[in-house]
Amino acid sequence: MSSEFSLNFSDFAMRDNSSILSFLYSLIQSMPNIKDKFDLSGRVAIISGASKGIGKAIARGLAECGASVVVSSRKQDAVDAVAAEFTADGLTATGIACHVGDEAQLQNLVEQTIATYGGIDILINNAATNPVFGPLDQMTGEVFDKVMNVNVRACMLLANLCKPSMEKRGKGSVINIASVEGLKPSPMMSIYSVSKAALVMLTQSQAREWGSDNIRANAICPGLIQTKFSAALWQNEQILDHFVSQLPLQRMAQPEEMVGLALYLASDLGSYSTGGVFTADGGHLIG
Ligand SMILES: NC(=O)c1ccc[n+]([C@@H]2O[C@H](COP(=O)([O-])OP(=O)(O)OC[C@H]3O[C@@H](n4cnc5c(N)ncnc54)[C@H](OP(=O)(O)O)[C@@H]3O)[C@@H](O)[C@H]2O)c1
Repeated sequence: MSSEFSLNFSDFAMRDNSSILSFLYSLIQSMPNIKDKFDLSGRVAIISGASKGIGKAIARGLAECGASVVVSSRKQDAVDAVAAEFTADGLTATGIACHVGDEAQLQNLVEQTIATYGGIDILINNAATNPVFGPLDQMTGEVFDKVMNVNVRACMLLANLCKPSMEKRGKGSVINIASVEGLKPSPMMSIYSVSKAALVMLTQSQAREWGSDNIRANAICPGLIQTKFSAALWQNEQILDHFVSQLPLQRMAQPEEMVGLALYLASDLGSYSTGGVFTADGGHLIG
């Protein structure tokens, strides 16, 4: 039993039975419950690419656990609509538009978040792009720069901008949404796979350098999730059938199935996890 719950005889002296019972009851009530570790009350989270798909599901999950969430994507009307949907459900949310490839907009996102909620505890680097499916030998430098700018450079810059606020608050959690593509490349995914592998290493470098500031960094690697981003794969029945037939779980996932890992990593339940690479892929990597 930790010292904060230790008792000594003087706690009981001079008490009658009913006051001892009520004292013990209040003591039990104040003992931490493992479920309390999921509680994000008082925490502030930025989620990039949260107007739909995985980002929106994670934003809702964090908000339902008590966090104030900043819903961000390129379009103000889209993030306003999501924030309004959340607040109508009694959650705390604000929409701030930000194209993550634009440094000035990243700076504005962080400044507006701090002005609105007073600081930042959790960053979900979720926005990404994959403008071209095709083999590496058909990729141009322009496509490479575009993908790396949004999928890697922006994640580094945004985390760097959030870090001073996390330091002030004494802890922080950076969660980078990578992909199984960053661990095992598929045909035609070329530069996207390269960018996600780089994001995994960015995560581990952040974890290595920022652990002493109690800032954790982890990567989530989803498999095939049914969103707009992956529509080219799941809208084609032949491709989908071929893909899911290789999976132990024999199906793609819904965005909500990514929320559990994010909640674990964002909350105190994940307090000893840093530099981790967590898959939620229906068994893709062992298929
Ligand atoms: N779906 C999958 O199968 C899958 C698998 C592995 C990994 N992932 C990863 O999961 C993450 C989310 O993907 P998703 O499938 O949820 O995609 P999605 O449903 O298409 O959502 C993408 C989100 O990102 C926003 N966005 C796009 N470009 C942006 C930019 N430059 N700046 C800011 N926001 C931007 C979009 O909103 P606006 O258009 O309003 O900007 C939208 O909110 C990505 O990192 C992706 O690589 C997805």
